Amino acid sequence: MTSPVSDSAERRRPLVVAIDGPAASGKSSTAKWVASELGMRHVDSGALYRAATASALRREPDSAKWTEDLVLAASSTVTLVAGETTFHARLDGAAAEAELRGKDVTSRVSLVARMPRVREWVNGLVRQAAEGHPVVVDGRDMGTAVFPQARVKIFLVADPWERAKRRLIQRFERQPTEAEIAEETDTLVHRDAKDESQTQRAVDAVLIDTTYLTQEEQVARIVALARQSQRASAG
Ligand code: DC
Repeated sequence: MTSPVSDSAERRRPLVVAIDGPAASGKSSTAKWVASELGMRHVDSGALYRAATASALRREPDSAKWTEDLVLAASSTVTLVAGETTFHARLDGAAAEAELRGKDVTSRVSLVARMPRVREWVNGLVRQAAEGHPVVVDGRDMGTAVFPQARVKIFLVADPWERAKRRLIQRFERQPTEAEIAEETDTLVHRDAKDESQTQRAVDAVLIDTTYLTQEEQVARIVALARQSQRASAG
């Protein structure tokens, strides 16, 4: 079978590991860990949608008044800064992690993520980050719309109950009760539905169901796939 990409073109292809999947599937923490194992940098595209939302909230607290132009204008205060192993989204030049992960942003970010020109802006920043350095990117459409040529594509899934439980353990730093998990599962299923149109599994993505895997096991699988791809393109 002939490949549409020549051998030398294949070798020149920048190494991109694209990890997609629904909310709380462990994409970002896994991507960060994979990047540090492989000496690559991590880019969290969801953080950019969150940063755009937070910047819009700073400009106009009433999200019913948001237009795409307003969100884009507010996003001019967002920058993506390279750290040693990860890129950080900054608002007005400063870290704003708690604001980005807070309820006000989380409940409005799907609205912003549906704006086509905001998607173009995020995709441009993520592609720029990948220009000079191999990257592990995570999001919803990294292996489809943003890096269709990525060498390694992963789609992470996990049972909603398990995702909810993991998220609550991280948030509360204790075991959650059944009632708490049930409530968080509802929230997650609701968010999955809101993000459905943006969440795309590439036909050539490797599906990894992490319901019964530890994070170490997920990372090991992805690192092995990336090393295999690196060897194939070097050989
Ligand atoms: O992964 P997260 O919860 O931080 O993502 C925040 C929001 O951004 C969520 O509504 C999905 C959306 N998103 C997207 O539409 N495309 C991406 N590549 C990444 C995130």
